[in-house]
Amino acid sequence: MTNEKKPYEELLGNLDNLLAPCLAQDWPNLPVDRAEGVYVYGRDGRKYIDFLCGFGACNVGHNHPEVIQAAQDQMQKMVHTAIGVTNYEPLLYLADELGKIMPGSADVFFFGNSGAEAVEGAIKLARYSTQRRGIVSFIGGFHGRGIGGTSAGSSKAKYRTGHGPLLPEFYFAEFPYPYRSKTPEDLESCSQAALADLNRLFEYIVEPQDLAAFLVEPIQGEGGYIFPPQSWLKELRNICDKYGILLIFDEVQTGFGRTGEWFAADVYDVEPDIVAISKAIANGFPLGATAARAEIMKKWGAASHGSTCGGNPVSCAAAVKVIEIIQKENLLENTKTQGLYMTERLNDLKKQASIIGDVRGVGLMVAVEFIKPDTDKEPNSEIVQKILQIALDKGLLLYPCGHWNQTIRLIPALTITQNQIDEGLNIFFESVLEAQKKL
Ligand SMILES: Cc1ncc(COP(=O)(O)O)c(C=O)c1O
Repeated sequence: MTNEKKPYEELLGNLDNLLAPCLAQDWPNLPVDRAEGVYVYGRDGRKYIDFLCGFGACNVGHNHPEVIQAAQDQMQKMVHTAIGVTNYEPLLYLADELGKIMPGSADVFFFGNSGAEAVEGAIKLARYSTQRRGIVSFIGGFHGRGIGGTSAGSSKAKYRTGHGPLLPEFYFAEFPYPYRSKTPEDLESCSQAALADLNRLFEYIVEPQDLAAFLVEPIQGEGGYIFPPQSWLKELRNICDKYGILLIFDEVQTGFGRTGEWFAADVYDVEPDIVAISKAIANGFPLGATAARAEIMKKWGAASHGSTCGGNPVSCAAAVKVIEIIQKENLLENTKTQGLYMTERLNDLKKQASIIGDVRGVGLMVAVEFIKPDTDKEPNSEIVQKILQIALDKGLLLYPCGHWNQTIRLIPALTITQNQIDEGLNIFFESVLEAQKKL
């Protein structure tokens, strides 16, 4: 036995034998060394401006010194002792602080490790507390890779295929997609069409009184950064109230300031009953939570759910600091300002690029949808793949989303400055125009 490690480059060349293909064959597997603020640094020393932000997990910027300090301080004391068996300061500080920013009165928490776990918890809690089984989710939604989330997910069939049997009593209804609706300018008709689909589900497939919950991303993330009309979400709330259905918001991607508000629920002014949160909660330290108001959460009796490393002290200490930083550095305001600036500039680019079908955004949850020119909005995933590669070569890290991977999301850290937005957008503009010229 030797402790000598193989050189990283040699291991990288053997990626397919070391990692599952679903990791090894993802794009671009960029070898990186460190990250700071809105930048990541390649092993070759190259600096990349990061418009993906660890899939929206590092909202206060990579390695924010105060988050690192909080985590280090906690690590000196204790890394893991298991929630429930033990109890510790960062856990309760976090629950208390989170309670102040959660939408509505969802201020009692179950802590896990990830978005998937937060969603699984939400589904289990909804079923347990209502003693009903049916879950309705919405076409194009993504809810993580647990078996519940996979059963509720429909952003791409390939995420479901081959993993069955998926869970019974999961149903789907239309999510309003204004850009691709029959009436893109008329949000009300778009909303009504989706509600008609939900009513069809109630008439033909399942009666609303058999449902435990609607599970919905208030803004679809993986599905393509789709912003539904407010009236649709409000009507979901009304239907829930009428039939005793719980409204679960999956805010794993939309939460923690991404939209310029703490949560998308605040943007839409709709109060969920249960909220799944993760990603940016601890700026990259693994943490997730299922939140609900006391009346619901208190039904989830002792030992009915759990998680070994959930609510890890280091992650909780980091999360407490994240909330403080977002407040102290006025990041919600910055998100609104920079988000507006970004969408304005992207709308200028749209005028020069016939491959851009739509620019949309709320706060720094911004996306550009690409189409084949001179078609009826035919999705253009080929051009997206080219743009992503050109941009990466020029030093900008991006990732697609959308059912056909036809959309590029632009989600930098909320700490970003206007100059840094320009730095990233200049590369994005060049990449889009270069890809368009090659058509
Ligand atoms: C809306 C939503 N829910 C759940 C998840 C799953 O989160 P995780 O990857 O942390 O399990 C994601 C991840 O992208 C997500 O965007």
